[in-house]
Amino acid sequence: MLPANVDVRLAVLADAPTIARFQIEMAMETENKKLDANVVLPAVEAVFRDANKGYYLVAEIADDPGKRPVVASLLITYEWSDWRNSVIWYIQSVYVDPDWRGRQIFGKLFADVIHRAERAQAKFVRLYVEAENHRAVAVYESLGMKRLPYYMYQYQVIE
Ligand SMILES: CC(C)(COP(=O)(O)OP(=O)(O)OC[C@H]1O[C@@H](n2cnc3c(N)ncnc32)[C@H](O)[C@@H]1OP(=O)(O)O)[C@@H](O)C(=O)NCCC(=O)NCCS
Repeated sequence: MLPANVDVRLAVLADAPTIARFQIEMAMETENKKLDANVVLPAVEAVFRDANKGYYLVAEIADDPGKRPVVASLLITYEWSDWRNSVIWYIQSVYVDPDWRGRQIFGKLFADVIHRAERAQAKFVRLYVEAENHRAVAVYESLGMKRLPYYMYQYQVIE
């Protein structure tokens, strides 16, 4: 399939409903989990109100100047590394509209992230992925990402 002609840009608050819809669709697709839109939309909007939380990138189709539909998004968040005195970036909430997959849209988003990370002097770009999400694993490895030897743990604090 031909690569899609997309532009990657920083998301703005007006993109929040689309990004929230992508997250709801992704949770259903990848984990069969039904997310509550009344939780997800304000959570997406919160990122635009507080730059410390991170930022979203979106990819929009460039062919039709009148429409430019947004077909993919991701969230960048930060982790401080005292070992390295530098920041590690995390790619989260990656979603490409099913109709547009396999057309190098994530590849283009990823290249943009790496470019921004270089400029920000981030040491690494990381992400975590559900172990059974074989397609996403294959995509990340084909883009040169290396698997790390960590387990991820969590402790539930509040219901
Ligand atoms: C995983 C996902 C983000 C990939 O997006 P995409 O736009 O289809 O990926 P791309 O077309 O940019 O592919 C990137 C690279 O991976 C390769 N690739 C794509 N699909 C692949 C597959 N099934 N197996 C192996 N490699 C694959 C591509 O060839 C491309 O490499 P290239 O640039 O050398 O050609 C997308 O499938 C998605 O949104 N999935 C559902 C949500 C999800 O799983 N999110 C991740 C949660 S961690």
